[in-house]
Amino acid sequence: MSVLVTGGAGYIGSHTAVQLLGCGEDIIILDNFSNSSPEMLDGIRQISNKTFKFYEGDMRDGALLDRVFSENDIEAVIHFAGLKAVGESIQKPLEYYDNNINGTLCILETMKKHNCKIMIFSSSATVYGNDNPIPFTEDMKTSAINPYGWTKVFIEHILEGVCEADKDFSAVLLRYFNPIGAHKSGIIGEKPNGIPNNIMPYIMKVASGEYDHLNVFGNDYDTVDGTGVRDYIHVVDLADGHLAALAYARKHKGAETVNLGTGKGTSVLELVAAYEKASGKKVPYVFAPRRQGDIAACYADVSKAKKLLGWQAKYDIDDMCADNARWALKE
Ligand code: NAD
Ligand code: WQD
Repeated sequence: MSVLVTGGAGYIGSHTAVQLLGCGEDIIILDNFSNSSPEMLDGIRQISNKTFKFYEGDMRDGALLDRVFSENDIEAVIHFAGLKAVGESIQKPLEYYDNNINGTLCILETMKKHNCKIMIFSSSATVYGNDNPIPFTEDMKTSAINPYGWTKVFIEHILEGVCEADKDFSAVLLRYFNPIGAHKSGIIGEKPNGIPNNIMPYIMKVASGEYDHLNVFGNDYDTVDGTGVRDYIHVVDLADGHLAALAYARKHKGAETVNLGTGKGTSVLELVAAYEKASGKKVPYVFAPRRQGDIAACYADVSKAKKLLGWQAKYDIDDMCADNARWALKE
């Protein structure tokens, strides 16, 4: 039996593929390289020293999905494939709804046809919206302030509906906080196309000298030093969270929603200081106005992940920065 990893050439999918292969799982990757490249697949092979099947194509291509499920005995789907840039989703809402929601529906239809009943889904802390108190617990109400966020809210509801209708279906909806870092080998990591939206890839480009400074969005929040606080989580810890979710889903039916974070908040200035220490490079910054849509602080209550999945994050912010710098600043 195999595990299908959609979006497995991407940032989180590639790290999860490495961890799955390391545990002896047989995996198949489906990706259309819309935000990744074949190099990442080479990286997975190099680190794991294992082989896997790869299908290049779009998850909305029903004929391709049918072929993937007919040619393989697929037990579970770990579903990473999706578009994820918040700003772009505001410019191109139809593209985001089509890719993320329609894509997920296509996969679920094909799973139904082939009697595959486990899905681990990449949701996001973005579903907590802008007015829940911190730390966020899984039972809080969900909402969104942009199309990207709505795709995650809707897909969560779709999966709950699927589990309601089919009592044999298992879905684990993993709400990621802020994934950063890279594999400790320095072989795979995050490689965004164009100007980065998220802070870590931006810091990388400042540390490498490609950009001359970081804009720190807001220094007047009610936080430890006035800058935004987030729950950064090492991508390898996050990957391991998927293995724990898969083990859980193999034994339990129904839908469960679980936060994957560390439970600790780090400010922008604390992150910059940690990166400078880990990399030995300067990260000059200037204060800029608050970014529209940002909240002051966001971190997870991680007790459910520990209780339900037996999982908790192992790495701290210094590990995340050191592993990132090894990947990002290699010659
Ligand atoms: P990523 O862009 O690196 O990986 C996504 C992969 O999916 C890419 O390789 C892309 O080519 C592929 N893809 C996109 N649309 C596809 C389609 N229609 N058919 C086939 N392949 C397709 O992103 P990531 O950071 O690895 O994120 C993975 C998932 O986790 C996404 O669903 C994202 O929304 C979610 N998520 C990410 C973060 C984050 O900060 N990185 C936070 C919360 C949730
Ligand atoms: C982190 C902190 C910024 C850039 C986003 C998505 C969310 C999820 C993860 C997918 C904030 C500050 C940033 C910069 C800065 N993705 N910042 N200068 O906004 O918490 O979450 O990515 O699901 O949906 O919204 O992450 O990395 O953009 O910002 O000062 O150039 O860094 O204000 O405090 P965010 P981020």
